[in-house]
Amino acid sequence: MPGLTIGDTIPNLEVESTNGKINLHNFCTDSWTILFSHPGDFTPVCTTELGQMAKYSSEFYQRGVKLLGLSCDDLKTHNEWIKDIEAYTPGAKVNFPIISDPKREIIKQLNMVDPDEKDSTGNLPSRALHIVGPDKKIKLSFLYPATTGRNMDEVLRVVESLQKASKFKVATPANWKPGEKVVISPDVTNEQAKEMFPQGFETKDLPSKKEYLRFVKV
Ligand code: BEZ
Repeated sequence: MPGLTIGDTIPNLEVESTNGKINLHNFCTDSWTILFSHPGDFTPVCTTELGQMAKYSSEFYQRGVKLLGLSCDDLKTHNEWIKDIEAYTPGAKVNFPIISDPKREIIKQLNMVDPDEKDSTGNLPSRALHIVGPDKKIKLSFLYPATTGRNMDEVLRVVESLQKASKFKVATPANWKPGEKVVISPDVTNEQAKEMFPQGFETKDLPSKKEYLRFVKV
């Protein structure tokens, strides 16, 4: 994936949004942020995604995560579109900012361009989603084509995984769901693990007899 990717600091851009001007570094400092793009206003998949993001917003806020959308139309169009989004998804309130990028300049700097989707103005944004950590670095990115809507349960799941890994020396195994046990990072010795996890941990007995698959509840 060329351009901005995990580990990179997000660029310090000044952007216009439905909640006023935003400086990206100020917005992202000391908080987790989900920055997500949409191909365009008044499009079917985007309307369903924004509605779901609004419905899940309290789940994200409870976890200290701010939301910041982006769509490549102007603010007037965004504000008209929000009425449709809220009507389509009952109970959804779009109370987070949506960046406007009518010239499609911001999407290039944020690595959110879909190379295969074009209209008369040029390339559309992909369904990109960057999870930015409190240090303003990208911790995880999704890059979906315009034809595949994102799953908000998956977004919430990966937020929980990132937050657990930032707090403890752990990782989340395949198909992990919030509430399930996590695995202890391989660079933690058993001696260290006993100190770090006084609640105890379970080591899987494997044919190799190597004690590297250790589950713990955190
Ligand atoms: C949509 O949001 O529904 C969409 C946008 C661009 C291409 C295909 C679908």
